[in-house]
Amino acid sequence: MRHIAMVYDTVSGSTADMGAIIRDVLRQESTVTTLSVNASDSLESYDAVIIGSPMRFGWCTSKMQAFLKRHSAQLAHKKVAFFFSMLYVVRIAEEPADEGRLFLDPGLAIATIPKKAATGMDKTHSVGFFQRRRCHNAPTIDPVSIAYFKGRLVLERLPLFERLFMKMVTTFTKKEQKGEFLNPAAVRGWAEELAHRL
Ligand SMILES: Cc1cc2nc3c(=O)[nH]c(=O)nc-3n(C[C@H](O)[C@H](O)[C@H](O)COP(=O)(O)O)c2cc1C
Repeated sequence: MRHIAMVYDTVSGSTADMGAIIRDVLRQESTVTTLSVNASDSLESYDAVIIGSPMRFGWCTSKMQAFLKRHSAQLAHKKVAFFFSMLYVVRIAEEPADEGRLFLDPGLAIATIPKKAATGMDKTHSVGFFQRRRCHNAPTIDPVSIAYFKGRLVLERLPLFERLFMKMVTTFTKKEQKGEFLNPAAVRGWAEELAHRL
């Protein structure tokens, strides 16, 4: 039986809820151990590692970045899958096409726009931008799959600075708005597909 480690960070809970759904699916054929994002334990005994994070400026939270750094040598030789809880992503037509390992929650209703029509926000929320951030920050990890799921925005659950920042974002753009967007069926669908890739 495969041994899978799952580690996620979360602030308002949606990434944790996604993690629970993924774990339930994968447990049908594997053992799944949830590790704390602060853990320093060796990953050697696991066949695969699933990493979840709220999207933060195109990449993981700082706690998850620290986890990836601490375990970078071991992760470079593991099967790794990422899932992100987020609010907005767009495709810019001129950017390289998907890598075939990308899973996009239909709830994200992703549009394709030409580069000349992209705003500053689009340019920092595009599939290509997220891909460049990942390659820059985790160059030794070659993930088997990457999923982008729409999560939630509950301002009251955010620390003060983040709450003020997101209040400003939601006031000035309709692209990221408050609400509950988690789609359990999309998360389950990815997990079922992932079970064949790990
Ligand atoms: C400081 C900050 C930066 C964020 N950056 C992004 C981003 O770059 N792209 C995005 O789609 N969502 C972004 N979000 C929204 C969160 O990723 C989203 O609310 C997520 O679903 C929260 O996950 P959680 O419920 O596990 O905390 C940001 C939120 C905060 C507070």
